Amino acid sequence: MDISGNALVIGGGGIGRACAILLAREGASGVMIGDLDLEAARKVVDECFAVATNSGFRAESAQVDVSKEDSVSNIFDRMVDVFGRVDYSVNCAGVGAERPRDISSLPLSEFQRFVDVNLTGAFLVMRQASVAMRAQVPRPVSPSGAFPNRGTIRGVIVDLCSAASMAASNGILPYTTTKHGQLGLTRNSAIDNAPYQIRVNCICPSWTDTPMVRKANEGIEGHADFVNSKLPIGRIAIPEEVADAGLPRVVRHITTHNDEGKSMFLPIDVGDHHRELVNKSAIANILYSTHEHPVNLNGDADVKYARENEPGITVKNGTVCRLIDFAPGTVSPLHRVKSIDYAVVIEGVFKMVLDSGEERVLHRGDVAINRSTAHRWINVTGGGLLPARILFVLQDIRDLTIAGKNVDKDLGVLEKDYVGLPGHAGPAPLVGGGGNDEKFDSEF
Ligand SMILES: NC(=O)c1ccc[n+]([C@@H]2O[C@H](COP(=O)([O-])OP(=O)(O)OC[C@H]3O[C@@H](n4cnc5c(N)ncnc54)[C@H](O)[C@@H]3O)[C@@H](O)[C@H]2O)c1
Repeated sequence: MDISGNALVIGGGGIGRACAILLAREGASGVMIGDLDLEAARKVVDECFAVATNSGFRAESAQVDVSKEDSVSNIFDRMVDVFGRVDYSVNCAGVGAERPRDISSLPLSEFQRFVDVNLTGAFLVMRQASVAMRAQVPRPVSPSGAFPNRGTIRGVIVDLCSAASMAASNGILPYTTTKHGQLGLTRNSAIDNAPYQIRVNCICPSWTDTPMVRKANEGIEGHADFVNSKLPIGRIAIPEEVADAGLPRVVRHITTHNDEGKSMFLPIDVGDHHRELVNKSAIANILYSTHEHPVNLNGDADVKYARENEPGITVKNGTVCRLIDFAPGTVSPLHRVKSIDYAVVIEGVFKMVLDSGEERVLHRGDVAINRSTAHRWINVTGGGLLPARILFVLQDIRDLTIAGKNVDKDLGVLEKDYVGLPGHAGPAPLVGGGGNDEKFDSEF
């Protein structure tokens, strides 16, 4: 994530609280939390201050009733007055089922309660967010400069829909109905807002351990057992897993020395060079590279080298420290790098498959010491539904002989992603991966 703007999070309950805290931690310059329950919103503000990473961070709480037109207009006006603009609008206000309801005995008042908050409320928040964002000038999607090709944007709107936006369950008709409506609201608002450079999305979580679900567990007999029996990962999600649906922002801290010889940090950044790989299903963030051994730190010569030179997959006589984020289900081509490679799983679960067919599953914190073997990585996180991340540190090695044969790097189709970088001057091969990567060819 590349977060630096101002966020309005409406609904500071389980998921809203997690979103606000995450935004503060990821670098937002301002967060306003609105809720019907002002005391709950105030507590979230304190929690945001405790984790904020932006040195100019500001946060405020406000009472809002999303079912009331004036109340929603007021909180957006206040947001613009206090913070100047609304870069992110996240609507997490909602009501859930507290006891079973059947269509034949459902009072209109109860149905209307869901419509007022979940549907009218979502509409009013979506409308005011659209109005506020259309009135502001676009800013870079990636203010850090890490992804310059992503252009500019006026704002980002996220609405909390639900798995119930796509399916029905016994006894929760008003919830299912309003969540289906919210999905339509998101879809149409996304189309309406796209020409104005406003991105609109929704998140459709399954059961998540928040006050909303705890109330349902108390009021609906057998609900907790039903939830637990239905979840493929064997447990209910935690709110942070909904807020943090992507991978956290990378923050790089480089040390140096000042003129008096005291240790200090260079300004925080997100890495110098970024490169899309594997048909854009993985992105490499080069955290550092060196080109000699021993490394020359005098006058920060190494920092200058790392800044000015995007490395190839390895650097002759040097090292590369590279973080790679893999999209859900990504299968890398079979490839061999001429290096000794320390690979640490930072997020997610991977299969590492060798050219012999031998394979191992690596979990978060597991380390592979890859001694120039032909291998592929498969991101199997969440059954292939979630992104994941590996940190690679590669060191150059001497010429290598295996089974009596000289072995060089063989990146297969991955070679085309490195063309033009040092060590990759030649034209990209059309197919490859040990020259014969049927699995990769069939999947891409
Ligand atoms: N928890 C889950 O399992 C789950 C699953 C899928 C979707 N969702 C959706 O995520 C969103 C957040 O749910 P949660 O689990 O964090 O619930 P929660 O009950 O913990 O939080 C909801 C918040 O909305 C506030 N709220 C209620 N009515 C309001 C109103 N009229 N105006 C302003 N604020 C109001 C409540 O005070 C509360 O703080 C909801 O839209 C919910 O439907 C939740």
